Amino acid sequence: MSNNVNALPRHVAFIMDGNGRWAKKRGLPRTAGHREGAKVLRRLIRDLSDIGIEYATFYAFSTENWKRSDEEVSALMKLLEENLDDLVNYENENIRLRFIGGRERLSPLLCEKMQKGEDKSRDRTGMTVTIAINYGGRDDIVRAAKKSAELISEGYLKPDDLTEDLFTSMLQTEDIPPVDLMIRTGGEIRISNFLIWQISYAELYFTDTLWCDFGKKDLEKAIDEYMTRNRRYGDAR
Ligand code: IPE
Ligand code: IPE
Ligand code: MG
Repeated sequence: MSNNVNALPRHVAFIMDGNGRWAKKRGLPRTAGHREGAKVLRRLIRDLSDIGIEYATFYAFSTENWKRSDEEVSALMKLLEENLDDLVNYENENIRLRFIGGRERLSPLLCEKMQKGEDKSRDRTGMTVTIAINYGGRDDIVRAAKKSAELISEGYLKPDDLTEDLFTSMLQTEDIPPVDLMIRTGGEIRISNFLIWQISYAELYFTDTLWCDFGKKDLEKAIDEYMTRNRRYGDAR
């Protein structure tokens, strides 16, 4: 495309929304939507990797999603447990897997699988896939604030030496670049406490397409639009 102004986004983040509505439309329980959504996630990881995206981050469960019924929460947790094995075994795709979000409330089995996945894929050189489970942007910032407060109270850091870059490195996304493109499916126009610090200059893309219907064509459309946007960063260009 001749009017592209940006290169491919390095980091694409996804708010995978609309699974419940997808299931409802078909007269199925919400959990059937989540099951289908997990398939879409696995397919999309391949597509992203084929396109050449370096970092992809997926919102799987928010700190607010605990408000849902016990039945839905346990179905979501079980699906995560089931799908992690496949995600980890993306040997050929050379995917490096990471997780963000608080692990305190997660089951020992899920935590064990997450840890194994990270350990097993740590040295892979392909796309970095980050899955956000029990993640909240505000929680991420408070955890980083606590870390910096500890460093200061222990005398390792002076308040004046706390810079934006240093603070960024204390977030759970420590070694991941800022988000270039954030895509939300499912029609809502909000961030729902996802990577609120990390999207400060991201391009936002909202689509009515439900997550379960989101495919490679939709991804390419979002990326094409991103590539034509003038990011400007406060400059007057
Ligand atoms: C997104 O789909 C998946 C999670 C939040 C875990 P929803 O379950 O929010 O689906 P809708 O928004 O109710 O359709
Ligand atoms: C955002 O979706 C969280 C995830 C996709 C994991 P929600 O469905 O929870 O968001 P709200 O409640 O509509 O803001
Ligand atoms: Mg939703």
